[in-house]
Amino acid sequence: VIDIRKLYAQAGVFTYDPGFTSTASCDSTITYIDGDKGELLHRGYPIDQLAEQSNYLEVCYLLMHGELPSKDEYEKFVNTITNHTMIHEQMHHFFRGFRRDAHPMATMVGVVGAMSAFYHDSTDIADPRQREIASHRLIAKMPTIAAMAYKYSIGQPFVYPRNDLSYAANFLHMCFAVPADEYKVDPILARAMDRIFTLHADHEQNASTSTVRLASSSGANPFACIAAGIACLWGPAHGGANQACLEMLREIGSVDRIPEFIERAKDKNDPFRLMGFGHRVYKNFDPRAKVMKQSADEVLDLLGIEDNPTLQVAKELERIALEDPYFKEKKLYPNVDFYSGIILDAMGFPTSMFTPIFALARTVGWISQWSEQLADPQLKIGRPRQLYLGEMARDYTPLEER
Ligand code: ACO
Repeated sequence: VIDIRKLYAQAGVFTYDPGFTSTASCDSTITYIDGDKGELLHRGYPIDQLAEQSNYLEVCYLLMHGELPSKDEYEKFVNTITNHTMIHEQMHHFFRGFRRDAHPMATMVGVVGAMSAFYHDSTDIADPRQREIASHRLIAKMPTIAAMAYKYSIGQPFVYPRNDLSYAANFLHMCFAVPADEYKVDPILARAMDRIFTLHADHEQNASTSTVRLASSSGANPFACIAAGIACLWGPAHGGANQACLEMLREIGSVDRIPEFIERAKDKNDPFRLMGFGHRVYKNFDPRAKVMKQSADEVLDLLGIEDNPTLQVAKELERIALEDPYFKEKKLYPNVDFYSGIILDAMGFPTSMFTPIFALARTVGWISQWSEQLADPQLKIGRPRQLYLGEMARDYTPLEER
């Protein structure tokens, strides 16, 4: 029997807010979102300006340090990241322990968690210098790890990082070069890749970032915290939506089937949702989706992919959904994942790589938030309470009497 007085008493003592719809878990100076206006700022700079005029590593510096770098600071930062791109040679064996058909996200959760077994010095979180080195290592090595997860899954040899290439171009090289193959990274594709990284760099207290902060609040090491973030990101309601979205667009297949899927998304007895639509915070167009849509057009144009049926379905689906009273009333707009898959697909990535690419780009956001949290002198272990609805105290009955 539930003691209702106790329930009321509990509810009076702490806030009950499942899904944290209106609870701030921390204060932060990194990222600002105005969901009604569809505005996203990193350290005050609008995301569309950063996507157009800056680049991913500069945005990394900005997120980590709070200000844009001077020319010298920028060059030093790029140099440091470039010098950390290799992973410990023994980690190759770790990859080989996985089945070839493992999802690259499964591999990444394991490999990034295992970094704490290879880079012990960076686990000394009390030392700010070690915290910075851990951040550099993670930002630098994540593309190498994601590319290795991909290469392993398709049975090709690992490709080592090339330090003469930019961050994004090097990632494309590690994914698509075959040894002895004269693979040349197209600068326009490298720019599109860099923009995808920039658009995913941080997004304040989303589920994976909150997971990183909660894990870190216990004093866990940075690699363990980021592995927890990767695991959380994998879910289809979060970062896994980019894979789910492209698969959905392919399943729809042609514009004449869109109404059928719109009706399914509105049917409360059908668990189907329009993937890439809706957001907890944005009740307007996700500003990242606008840039992504433009980028999708540019990439397909560059690659000479005209009449891409998936892009046609996406554009028509967006048009129909935005005019539909259900989506209007619930303020469901395309989010960042709606168009990113189309670009990645055109570049040659399989859908299973979409979420790993999100994870590598979000690493800087996770690590900047981790750093900000550790620098807070008021830091407490995160420990939510619950509203207990179970049985109150009762006596144990021996097995033979039940
Ligand atoms: N398709 C159809 N209906 C939807 C959708 C959708 N994509 N999203 C929300 N709704 C409906 C819900 O059914 C609910 O209806 P109700 O009020 O009649 O019950 C209402 O809109 C509110 O939805 P909630 O799930 O309560 O909103 P919440 O803020 O908890 O969820 C979320 C946000 C998870 C993103 C949701 O919109 C969703 O599942 N979208 C599809 C997955 C997706 O694209 N995820 C990526 C998010 S962005 C990112 O992580 C990078």
